[in-house]
Amino acid sequence: MTLADLIPTLRPTLAARLEPGLWPVTTAATCDGAVSIGGCDLADLAARRGTPLQVLDVADVRDRCRSYRQALPEAEIAYAGKALLTPAVARLVAAEGFSVDTCSAGEVRITARAGVRGDRILLHGNVKTDADLAAAVEAQVGRIVIDSRGEIVRVAEHARGVQDVLIRVIPDVEAHTLRGLTTGTLRQQFGLPFDEAAIAVKEIGLHPQLRLVGLHCHLGSQVTSTAPYVEAVHRVMAFAAAQDIALGTLDMGGGHAVSWDGAAHDGPTTLDPAVLARDLRRALRGACARHRLPEPRLVIEPGRAIVARAGVTVYRVWAVKHVGDTTFVAVDGGMSDNPRPALYGAHYPVRRIGRPVRVPLSPMTVVGRHCEATDRIAEDVPLPSDIAVGDLLAVPCTGAYTRSMASTYNAVEPVPMLAVGGGAALPVRVRATPAGRGR
Ligand code: LLP
Repeated sequence: MTLADLIPTLRPTLAARLEPGLWPVTTAATCDGAVSIGGCDLADLAARRGTPLQVLDVADVRDRCRSYRQALPEAEIAYAGKALLTPAVARLVAAEGFSVDTCSAGEVRITARAGVRGDRILLHGNVKTDADLAAAVEAQVGRIVIDSRGEIVRVAEHARGVQDVLIRVIPDVEAHTLRGLTTGTLRQQFGLPFDEAAIAVKEIGLHPQLRLVGLHCHLGSQVTSTAPYVEAVHRVMAFAAAQDIALGTLDMGGGHAVSWDGAAHDGPTTLDPAVLARDLRRALRGACARHRLPEPRLVIEPGRAIVARAGVTVYRVWAVKHVGDTTFVAVDGGMSDNPRPALYGAHYPVRRIGRPVRVPLSPMTVVGRHCEATDRIAEDVPLPSDIAVGDLLAVPCTGAYTRSMASTYNAVEPVPMLAVGGGAALPVRVRATPAGRGR
């Protein structure tokens, strides 16, 4: 029996506690069920703007940027735009001194139009179409990351003047994350193994329009330990020494884990930027000393770690039903605005907002509106047993890889996003129809 069972008046107070580390820094919750972010009440925003709705806490993005900057003042930090990219987000991170990592003509254009200078933009991608390269050259993108040998001649053809390039190498380091999120081993398609990369170094040397300025690797996503990064630094620097490359830049990619569900885990679920900085620095210093190489400038590319926690999605409940032993709570969004549970089995907490919790919580499965049995936002999450049609649910930690991976499945419209801060909410992208798709 819990304290809340013994003293029923405590229940609302306990229910008002938010999962630590998963909600934006400005989140405030009261016992009557109100939750505000950036000084904006979520239920009020939902009433005025409709649902589904995503809010992005500007202060939280800044807070994350600053913890990275503080941890690695000497490094270049390139925000990985694939996590969430709109002009507002590009401006926000650029104002914090970040560069932006892009991987398509679309991402290059969004970033360039937001005013980010070309020398602060990197172009990645295992497929760079002519349109991608043309957009990069047009925006005077400072660095293009070579991902295959065939690309070299094409980048040289597109280049106006001298184009700086990096080679993405495969360090063959296991990142101990989901298989679908592992990108530093010889079992996946990104980058070049060291033997191929050695040939690429020579091929780049044949093109006076190209200048090899560094090496890049990206081990995967949701990486919780610094050990794979340390190992990768040693392997990449050994390669640089063997090839006698004058490395101006060592780009170690992104992939830093954030915690999703706040549940007890065996080890840490978040990669602390300060710990990463300490271990990367130590590894780089050690490798350079061993190979008698000057220290290259470190670049890192966090995406998720910058925007995940800042984003909260608000849905309205449109159906509640009991099937067998399961209570299904169906909302007006789902895999079209957040495909991560269906794709990766990601876990998110869900919270009812907008009215107090005066009844016990019981496990429920929150599903989306799409015609797929896998369209589940969260399984067996505790929700108040009086949940009803019209209630609002908020899902935290949904800033990364949600709207950037959104679809229009079932011809639904994109979910609008509001940037919140100081009691004001500004559309990051306006809803296509004024009435919204839910109501
Ligand atoms: N740099 C490169 C070259 C990348 O490919 C990526 C992510 C990043 C940086 C940023 O990684 P982050 O710090 O955000 O983990 N859709 C998946 C994640 C795929 C990541 C792909 N590359 C998800 O929702 O978990």
